[in-house]
Amino acid sequence: MSRSTLSALLIAAAASTYVFAQPDPADPTPLYSKHYAYPSAIPYQVDYNTAAIRGPQVGYNICNGTTENQQSMCQTSFVNHLDDFCLWAPSKPNSTIADTEQEEIAWCTKKGHGTRVMPEGTLQGVQYLKMKDYIQITGFIKQENVNMATGDYGGELDPHGADLRGNPLGGLMYSNVYPSSNTDNSTYTQVSDWTNFMGGDAFCIKICDPSSQNKGSNCENRYDRVGCAYNAPNNAQNGTFEVCDADDVLPVGTYVSGGATLTWTQPPDGVEPNPPYTPTPPASSNCVKYQSAQLYTDAVKPTSTGSGSQPTGGSGSGSSSGSGSSGSGSGSGGSNGASSMTVSAITGLAGVAFAMAIFA
Ligand SMILES: *[C@@H]1O[C@H](CO)[C@@H](O)[C@H](O)[C@H]1NC(C)=O
Ligand SMILES: *[C@@H]1O[C@H](CO)[C@@H](O)[C@H](O)[C@H]1NC(C)=O
Ligand SMILES: *[C@@H]1O[C@H](CO)[C@@H](O)[C@H](O)[C@H]1NC(C)=O
Ligand SMILES: *[C@@H]1O[C@H](CO)[C@@H](O)[C@H](O)[C@H]1NC(C)=O
Repeated sequence: MSRSTLSALLIAAAASTYVFAQPDPADPTPLYSKHYAYPSAIPYQVDYNTAAIRGPQVGYNICNGTTENQQSMCQTSFVNHLDDFCLWAPSKPNSTIADTEQEEIAWCTKKGHGTRVMPEGTLQGVQYLKMKDYIQITGFIKQENVNMATGDYGGELDPHGADLRGNPLGGLMYSNVYPSSNTDNSTYTQVSDWTNFMGGDAFCIKICDPSSQNKGSNCENRYDRVGCAYNAPNNAQNGTFEVCDADDVLPVGTYVSGGATLTWTQPPDGVEPNPPYTPTPPASSNCVKYQSAQLYTDAVKPTSTGSGSQPTGGSGSGSSSGSGSSGSGSGSGGSNGASSMTVSAITGLAGVAFAMAIFA
């Protein structure tokens, strides 16, 4: 897709909320500074201050067997493994991220977190990259399955926002992959630096190692209008589910030109962001591929509301094609019924990467 198309789309991007970030005097402690041991120290609501300008928080943070259903308003999220992570998405059908960013709830791939579970066929291709300092998951989704409006280009969710109270307000993130010495999947550490873009039938989510000095820059949140392509450069392919090791990439906004490391800053609202560089996806290795039916065994049946909610892809019948290894190494089985990836399909991906570049 040509740059001019991208630019045209970017003009349509909604307002960025970060630029003039200032704490709300009624609730001045930033969300990323609120720490709670899991699960015992988590309050019913992290953001209960009704005197604050935004809010109050729509859901709750104590989530358990009682709250584990498709009406759940759980706002405690997890990023663990390829088969076990959550995305932030609306609670009511046909919503845009821009309209609901402060009230998104957790939608998880698996039961056990007291949340809603993503319906069958929601995830259509997922790449899970393990970097030294962070985890990055990117992929293709049927976004209507998680209550997003068809065609919504979406936006960024993160623990900051204009008043530093987070989008969603009070949203917490935990993981069992940190500290990296942790081998017990039932021990969770709070992750205070994370970012999640949703929209354009795609998503990306990053969580940064709480013990890393680079957690702020790797999970940077001030580039909310340039999407996954810049905030989480990736080679995710529709129909492919894989886990790889990968190198950290330069933080968003940082690039090398003529031997010098330069920084680009997203301009204020009203000025079209026009980054002077094209991000390069990280080198990856040790990739292992899976079929979605193997991974997302807890997926619930989609509730069809109105048009176009036919389940597609996802629960593959496994006429595996296993073609298109884009330098990503081993792995058997290939993809599910959703695709037999070819070069032209990868060109299609570029379209999605651009769609992912539009934000609120
Ligand atoms: C389960 O979660 C709900 C909602 O946060 C809470 O009201 C309830 O006390 C919790 N139950 C237990 C046993 O912790
Ligand atoms: C979603 O909302 C839009 C805007 O309000 C409306 O035009 C459209 O009909 C709705 N779609 C569905 C499937 O409800
Ligand atoms: C932790 O979970 C991952 C992914 O679900 C699994 O591959 C791994 O074996 C688990 N580790 C332990 C110690 O149970
Ligand atoms: C991904 O593949 C599914 C199944 O083929 C298709 O329905 C969907 O439109 C594709 N998504 C994108 C963004 O191309």
